[in-house]
Amino acid sequence: MLELRNVDTYYGNIQALKNISIDVNEGEIVTLIGANGAGKSTTLMTICGVTPSRNGEIYFKGTPIHKMATDKIVAMGLVQVPEGRRIFPGMSVLENLEMGTCLRRDKSEIQKDID
Ligand SMILES: Nc1ncnc2c1ncn2[C@@H]1O[C@H](COP(=O)(O)OP(=O)(O)O)[C@@H](O)[C@H]1O
Ligand SMILES: [Mg+2]
Repeated sequence: MLELRNVDTYYGNIQALKNISIDVNEGEIVTLIGANGAGKSTTLMTICGVTPSRNGEIYFKGTPIHKMATDKIVAMGLVQVPEGRRIFPGMSVLENLEMGTCLRRDKSEIQKDID
């Protein structure tokens, strides 16, 4: 479902990811474990297109996403859920729920889900 093939990611001249390959199958839970600075966050940000890879390929359900913009990747259903149930504290509960529907167009179904 999600494949990383020989991914390299840089911050300027600094190489943060070296030749990363990962396979995640549907229904599988995969955990990244490593010391501080090992590259866990960079791996997630690279998958989401926030810090794009310089080399290698990333496929989601067979579609190459390594050159895709983050909003397009999110629209395909590949999203990050922040730890600690982070929300927008300056917004109401309703507004936080509405944020989760920003890519949906089925207004009547959205209302049902919010109810
Ligand atoms: N914005 C950044 N600019 C430059 N280097 C960074 C940046 N973010 C992370 N790095 C470097 O990339 C490497 C991997 O960091 P990171 O992905 O945050 O590791 P982890 O999440 O495993 O702690 C580290 O050497 C870190 O210093
Ligand atoms: Mg991290």
